[in-house]
Amino acid sequence: MSVLSGKKILLGISGGIAAYKSPLIVRLLKSLGAEVKIVMTPSAKDFVTPLTLSTLSNHPVYSTFTEELYDNPVWNDHVALGKWADLLLIAPATSNTLSAMVHAKCNNLLIATYLSCTCPVYIAPAMDLDMYAHPANQQNLKELNRIGNKVLSVGEGFLASGLHGKGRMLEPEEIIRHISEDLESGLPLYGKKVLITAGPTYEPIDPVRFIGNHSSGKMGFALAEEARQLGAHVTLISGPTVLVASPDIDRHNVLTAQEMYAIALEYFAETDIAIAAAAVADFKPLNVGDQKIKKESGFQSIELEKTLDILAEMGKRKQKQFLLGFALETEDEISNAIKKIKSKNLDAIVLNSLNEHGAGFSVDSNKVTYIDQNETIIPFELKSKILVAKDIFSQILTQNA
Ligand code: CTP
Repeated sequence: MSVLSGKKILLGISGGIAAYKSPLIVRLLKSLGAEVKIVMTPSAKDFVTPLTLSTLSNHPVYSTFTEELYDNPVWNDHVALGKWADLLLIAPATSNTLSAMVHAKCNNLLIATYLSCTCPVYIAPAMDLDMYAHPANQQNLKELNRIGNKVLSVGEGFLASGLHGKGRMLEPEEIIRHISEDLESGLPLYGKKVLITAGPTYEPIDPVRFIGNHSSGKMGFALAEEARQLGAHVTLISGPTVLVASPDIDRHNVLTAQEMYAIALEYFAETDIAIAAAAVADFKPLNVGDQKIKKESGFQSIELEKTLDILAEMGKRKQKQFLLGFALETEDEISNAIKKIKSKNLDAIVLNSLNEHGAGFSVDSNKVTYIDQNETIIPFELKSKILVAKDIFSQILTQNA
């Protein structure tokens, strides 16, 4: 999922020839799941029509402080627009607009909105080569950068004047890539590797039967999505489940505890945060039938052996990693969970409540208690597994800070 998904983006368009590319910016942002509103300067309308932009953005386009509605003047509230935005992108930003931004020269709705914004502001300058190189414009760009705006570079090539050089607005794809990378780099888990085990394991009895459990994998998948949204590179090792993970999650499907163990330990050494959310079968049949076991065979019992404990092994090999386990207890819940922190060398454990209606296997909600190494007990309310995943990561980040 793109870091721009769900973001409210205000696109400011000023009056330069590069404005003809702004509909493409709107399209790209929308295709990444962003909501887009547009403020344009009156002169930008000479280059691109408000109708094109309002059709693509599914929102009215604003360009004047007031407009007539049923014979009444209506105020286009630049303050509300500025507060609405998670991010303001001014593309193209002409020499005139850059200068007005530096000097707070509030002579159009775009500048008024810019001055009202408290969100990050990205600027994609566009002008002819000598205008761009002019010390006055370079000084303005420097100043805009100094006061906290994010000034993007310009492209080099054929210009509308017929000249060749530096000053073109970056292509829409480049603008969006720069913004996405910048936003990603500010995320708390940017550059971190997170390993998550999820779902059940199936331990074969014969080619058609297995020992398994009711785990749906929903908690582990919610954790994987949250880690991804926090900027991490996520490796998700999943037992059998119908769930679908985002394409940018590195997913490995496994069947048995043995397979989960092998992949988890292959990745563990280079992991920063490992979370064992899988409901790994604790036992597996000692002998697996080559053929389907027939009723007539007199078969009466299955001899079991323990599976390898993936979490305990990660605990043994732990160096710099933050290691989080899950516990499901039916008696002495807290003290048993704390014992597991010590016995498996964990940094923290999440205790699942089995007794709570609406929590546990298969359902979409969960009620958990987070317990850290110092035995600090943090209980959470019953909530969706997506929100539980947010609570868990906020504790990990606090503990890891
Ligand atoms: N776990 C694991 N590998 C196993 C068994 C468990 O990685 N073979 C992990 C689970 O993913 C979970 C934690 O260990 O994070 C707790 O598992 P649980 O089955 O509750 O505890 P056990 O240590 O197996 O002990 P017991 O069943 O006796 O409570």
